[in-house]
Amino acid sequence: MNYYSDLKTFCLLVLAYAFTTACGGGTDAPPEGTGPPDTTALFTEKHRPQFHFSPKEKWTNDPNGMVYFDGEYHLFYQHYPDSTVWGPMHWGHAVSRDLVHWEHLPIALYPDSLGYIFSGSAVVDWKNTTGFGQDGSPPLVAMFTYHDPVAAEAGSDNHQSQAIAYSNDRGRTWTKYEGNPVIPNPGNIRDIRDPKVIWDDDSGQWIVVLAVGDHAEFWGSPDLKTWKKLSEFGKTLGAHGGVWECPDLFPMTVEGTGEKMWVLIINLNPGNPNGGSGTQYFVGQFDGQSFTPGSAFLPYVQKGNGVWIDYGKDNYAGVTWSDAPDGRRLLIGWMSNWQYANKVPTEAWRNAMTIPWSLTLNKTDEGYRLFPQPVKELQALRAATFTLDKTEIDASLGLTEQLGFSPRLSEMELEFSLPESATGSFGVELSNAKGESYRIGFNSATNQFFSDRTKAGDASFSEDFARQPSVAPRASKDRTLHMHLFFDVASAELFADKGATVMTEIFFPTEDFNQIRLFAEDGKAELLRGAVYQLKGIWQ
Ligand code: FRU
Repeated sequence: MNYYSDLKTFCLLVLAYAFTTACGGGTDAPPEGTGPPDTTALFTEKHRPQFHFSPKEKWTNDPNGMVYFDGEYHLFYQHYPDSTVWGPMHWGHAVSRDLVHWEHLPIALYPDSLGYIFSGSAVVDWKNTTGFGQDGSPPLVAMFTYHDPVAAEAGSDNHQSQAIAYSNDRGRTWTKYEGNPVIPNPGNIRDIRDPKVIWDDDSGQWIVVLAVGDHAEFWGSPDLKTWKKLSEFGKTLGAHGGVWECPDLFPMTVEGTGEKMWVLIINLNPGNPNGGSGTQYFVGQFDGQSFTPGSAFLPYVQKGNGVWIDYGKDNYAGVTWSDAPDGRRLLIGWMSNWQYANKVPTEAWRNAMTIPWSLTLNKTDEGYRLFPQPVKELQALRAATFTLDKTEIDASLGLTEQLGFSPRLSEMELEFSLPESATGSFGVELSNAKGESYRIGFNSATNQFFSDRTKAGDASFSEDFARQPSVAPRASKDRTLHMHLFFDVASAELFADKGATVMTEIFFPTEDFNQIRLFAEDGKAELLRGAVYQLKGIWQ
């Protein structure tokens, strides 16, 4: 985020005071009097996502520390338990056994005298390189950024450093390492944060990638405690519309070839082609020391250009799970944007995560590209199914009556034929009796997908929210166009052409969207087949 925004100034002035007076050093016990919140009225509030993770109450931003261990997917998250606006960061905590249903757990990491607990990652230390393990079981080790608000307020540029904590009880309680910080600020570097740790088998060491202002840095360690800087990447490559944040680095096997490539994810704020925060990535090689983009990738990341993982405005800070089973590469993002995250019209909580993705790396005409797909586990939420046969859409095809269920929580798979001569727009429209509507679809004239929330309800909280529809260039050249959509109460996620183009956006209708139709403008659209699934919520 932009730590110099008005909000930040406000937070730092008011909260740095509260922080210095209230935070003890080093312990991670909850302050007295804070128990788990009363859950009776939760998850039924207006705009509350029904199959996306959101905190029981109060603020969240980035997902953190995702690691799979002992049958559980851990999801920690940037959390301020005292307010619905950003403030002194903690790590909230939830676990899931199926990536669909989430159990909320007590806060895992509290701020202390070294600072707020900013974003980071977690790993299973299988070889007990840290020595933190007990009774032959490997510890979970989290690595995070300390952000010292007092030093920052005093004008220091040394206020961010990297630290670790460990758990020997499946992530339920955490002990901060007494030797923290393990990577002190190297000297007047304002932005150095969001450590993503991986074990690199080939070089036999831990690698951490850090976001450092306008570049990424790779550091290596034998034991997660002593670190040595290995290399830098990116000052002159990729998008640089804003500060680089929340990196990730992982190897992937290219679909169908068996070839091994490395993916480097870099979030940045601002810089999203549709405005605000966004996520770019690079594909290349990592040799245990430095990252080098592949030659086929280089032309796409010259002169400030980026390759984007999601063209919607509301998928930020996404990184992947460590130790995911079956060789899967699973990612989750924060379903918001720093342009307006502090102002969206929700009361009990603020912000949610995307649905989890499963990534594949495919070789396309443009070179290697990530193809995100919704995790298959989400299919367990399908309640009723409505199928659509081949049909021509002439202006409008209403579906509300036929479905027999509300599109409020739904999933759709639509296949269109795209004649060379096509010029019009087509897609799906959700609406309500108040005349509010949200549209997502494809414009044949511009060869772009679009997400249009300009008439979708409350947008008064920020001029940046619904200035214009967001657009995404179509990556696939196939004459059959595929749209896979997820609609929750306040969001839409589009996986087009099997993940070649992705868009995630939120919206805030003043009454639920319970009407749905397919539309075609400036020409007819050829639907080849379709399915609409009613989805169950995950909280009941
Ligand atoms: C990204 C970010 C991170 C930082 C965290 C603070 O959204 O700004 O760089 O660690 O949020 O909450």
